[in-house]
Amino acid sequence: MASEINFKIDQHCHDVKANFDVLLITSFIINIIKAFVTFVSSCYKVILVVAFIFVLLYVLYKSYWNPVLYRKELSDTGYNHLPKKDRSLHIISAQNKRKFGNKLPPPYPNGWFSLVESRDLAVGGVISVDALGLNLCVYRGEDGVARIVDAYCPHLGANLGVGGSVCGTCIECPFHQWRFGVDGACVSIPGMESVPKGISIKTYHAMEVDGSVWVWYHVDGLPPQWTVPESEAAKSWGYRGRNEFLVNAHIQEIPENGADVAHLNAVHNISIFSDAGVKYPFLNRLIGHHIWGAEWQKGDEDHVAKIKISQKYLILKMDVFPLEITVNQIGPAHVRLSFMSSLGPMTVLQSVTPLGPLLQKVVHRVYSPGYNAPLGAAMVWLEAKQFERDVAIWNHKRYVSAPAYAKNDKTIRAFRSWFNQFYSDNSISLRDALQNPLDW
Ligand code: FES
Ligand SMILES: [Fe+2]
Repeated sequence: MASEINFKIDQHCHDVKANFDVLLITSFIINIIKAFVTFVSSCYKVILVVAFIFVLLYVLYKSYWNPVLYRKELSDTGYNHLPKKDRSLHIISAQNKRKFGNKLPPPYPNGWFSLVESRDLAVGGVISVDALGLNLCVYRGEDGVARIVDAYCPHLGANLGVGGSVCGTCIECPFHQWRFGVDGACVSIPGMESVPKGISIKTYHAMEVDGSVWVWYHVDGLPPQWTVPESEAAKSWGYRGRNEFLVNAHIQEIPENGADVAHLNAVHNISIFSDAGVKYPFLNRLIGHHIWGAEWQKGDEDHVAKIKISQKYLILKMDVFPLEITVNQIGPAHVRLSFMSSLGPMTVLQSVTPLGPLLQKVVHRVYSPGYNAPLGAAMVWLEAKQFERDVAIWNHKRYVSAPAYAKNDKTIRAFRSWFNQFYSDNSISLRDALQNPLDW
């Protein structure tokens, strides 16, 4: 009986001590919070100024010294509607079940295509690129010139892009060190004084403009029919950064967006700063929304198309940020967007590279004059935000070869007929590109 009473007394003491500890800790935390609030309220102005200086320094750093990099993977955009649980499985399933449509155009049009960005290809650098159904090796000779050859060595088939090296202006195979010159001819074989005639590797026409190395692809082997002139903006303004997307779609879908005037006020109407207006439409008036107008037309040269876009950013019916955008589509895979705003001009250069029959890499590089560098840097993110809204559609849509055109879709019809010039009778069909990825 005595031991039972002792036990209860011990238990009671223990509970009292535990409660006391909790009280002590709680009052300690409350005191810390009080001290913090007192400190903040006594010097909040200093804190605000310090925070502002930090933000300003960060903005200047990203604008002038450290270009913005923004990248989205293939499964990052357009899959929010799928269950969170087993997400990867649902994404793969959605991709596998997708119907791409009938009568799709050939997947690889003829034209210039950006393969690598100049900053990634140092002198003596070698890069392997798989695009347009080709395996290519891009290298920069010691003379600074970027060149493109077929990846496979004519000797025993090693891939020059994987372990190959640059010697002068030649590319050397990693397997038995045969060297190939600028015209693709084999110029040296270790242990042999002379090289048998007729050994060569296929070379491709290459050019380097707007910060990228471009390949000329023509299914009939024709030499370049036109070129991409250097962009004045890329030459004279500062580079503010890039965004990159992988898109699950036919290449034609991407430039067609520029001729699809009606989608602008449907897909891109919600504020560039937030998607909140989708769920709460009343917010559109407060945080702002975009009103677009556009005109698409053929350019002076056959391979060029032009789009004039005007944009209003309305907050409570007030246009707080009008924009005029002049768009030049140069060939099937390059677009230049010149923005004129009240804060100064900017240029966005878009390149589309078919990594596979229905897989596109899209890169936007942004340039602006020094005085509005922060706007250019912000544009890398903001433009990506609007582009993601298109990607979410492209990643799920099917191609409709004979659409039910409405009156304001006439530019889509005109675009398709213009884009048709980039296909040849011999262009590889989508079916062949999908079914025969291996060149047996
Ligand atoms: S495979 Fe290229 S040198 Fe032998
Ligand atoms: Fe769009």
